Amino acid sequence: MANLIRFLYHHALALSLLVVLRARTQARVCQRRHDCGPHCRAWAGTGASATAQWTIVATPHTLPIYINVPSALCDAEAPRWCSDRMRVFGALRAVAPVWETAMVNVGLIGLGKMGLSHLAIVNAHPEAKLIGICDTASYMCSILHKYTGIEVFSNYREMLDRKSLDAVIIATPSRFHGEMVREALLRGLHVFCEKPFCLDPGEGTSLAELADQKGVVNQVGYHYRFVGAFNEAKRLVDAQALGRIHHLRVEAYGPVVLRPKGGTWRAKSSEGGGCLHDYACHAIDIVNYLVGRPDAVSGTVLNKIFSRDVDDEVYATLHFADGMTGMIAANWSDDSLRRMSTQVTLWGTNGRMVVDRQEVKTYVRGAAGCTGAAKEGWDIRHTTDFHSDVWYYLRGEEYSAQLDYFIRCIAEGRRENISSFASAVQTDCVVSAMLQDAGGAWRRVDAGARTPAQSRTGEGGLLSLVTGALR
Ligand SMILES: NC(=O)c1ccc[n+]([C@@H]2O[C@H](COP(=O)([O-])OP(=O)(O)OC[C@H]3O[C@@H](n4cnc5c(N)ncnc54)[C@H](O)[C@@H]3O)[C@@H](O)[C@H]2O)c1
Repeated sequence: MANLIRFLYHHALALSLLVVLRARTQARVCQRRHDCGPHCRAWAGTGASATAQWTIVATPHTLPIYINVPSALCDAEAPRWCSDRMRVFGALRAVAPVWETAMVNVGLIGLGKMGLSHLAIVNAHPEAKLIGICDTASYMCSILHKYTGIEVFSNYREMLDRKSLDAVIIATPSRFHGEMVREALLRGLHVFCEKPFCLDPGEGTSLAELADQKGVVNQVGYHYRFVGAFNEAKRLVDAQALGRIHHLRVEAYGPVVLRPKGGTWRAKSSEGGGCLHDYACHAIDIVNYLVGRPDAVSGTVLNKIFSRDVDDEVYATLHFADGMTGMIAANWSDDSLRRMSTQVTLWGTNGRMVVDRQEVKTYVRGAAGCTGAAKEGWDIRHTTDFHSDVWYYLRGEEYSAQLDYFIRCIAEGRRENISSFASAVQTDCVVSAMLQDAGGAWRRVDAGARTPAQSRTGEGGLLSLVTGALR
């Protein structure tokens, strides 16, 4: 019955809007998905010719609304034109309680650096409504309540129990993730949790299983998975444009800890602090995304630069099942860069690729049998070739895009996941292996030693030690 009322209501709305908004058009409007921002994703043209009128069918929450868009506005002004129309719909929402029920009601736990960023993004999302926020710091709660009017809680369980939430976003220090995710899942909520997922991969695995049982959307904040350049790199790897990849290098540098200091959770390894847990996990996750999880790690180095109790830089060798190797280098005490900068280089039998959030650089050997997925020789494509506009920009498109994806999965009843709990557990497993490997055996350099003859045939020396350990 509710659906019928909703259907009739929206068709009546649609008809009246058609009358109001009808305009003569010539042709193309909104052909590119990003013309009108995120709304376009749900929009489709219903007719096109050089002279015909265009009708756009917008389907927020799968309810159709028809508007005509004059193509004369298309190139420069269509985005603004369309968003003006969406504002009309926004205004209608106020008098449309049936529509209001279709909003995704979100609660947010943790109002620190990351939580405030999520708050701003979700608060601006056209299909989400932030109805509860929680932090143990009363100052943050009172300030935010004063300026947003959103109900605040100091106890997250109370918020989960008292508010009619569909979903929760968890942005607390990492050691709390596990317990908070569990409480949310037990209440049947969709969950977005910040990275790293869990400090104990065993706990993460059981939560991933629980999320599957509950059939809820589950996502971890590895935002590089929403960067167009990394997605293009994944496409090229899957298309085997580089042939068989035999080695990779991932590097992540940026300014987080630049002088001796303590006192915050980031300075305590038991709370998820340290460069490996809090920073290098992004680099590990992007490797997992591009080529799959390594099978083993060796030579892990966790150095302190300014921190007393945790690592500030991380180096290790990664070993993959098919013989491929990799090296990771991460340093969060590097202020030669203004923000985190992550780059992956992959070498394959057919070429090389260097990718970061700004560009994808490929060198493809045509003679080796180019698959057609990439241009022969050197090719550079930039982030502007891949990016889609977001409805709200903060820190980078990827931060908005990941929450947009989470909310849309919920609103549209999709149970697929990018950066699911299950995939984030794989990253936690690599972190855990590196922690166990760190400080492991060294081979001392012996000035008088003779090089074992076997090492030249690959049957002795360091290489055989590593491959032997993998067997
Ligand atoms: N994806 C990214 O780029 C990115 C960037 C920064 C941080 N993070 C992750 O986000 C999470 C939070 O990091 P941050 O930098 O925002 O930390 P932060 O210290 O700035 O903020 C954490 C907030 O959580 C609150 N809090 C602590 N315990 C709580 C509890 N029991 N209940 C409710 N609130 C509680 C604190 O009062 C604080 O306001 C971490 O897991 C971190 O790894 C991700």
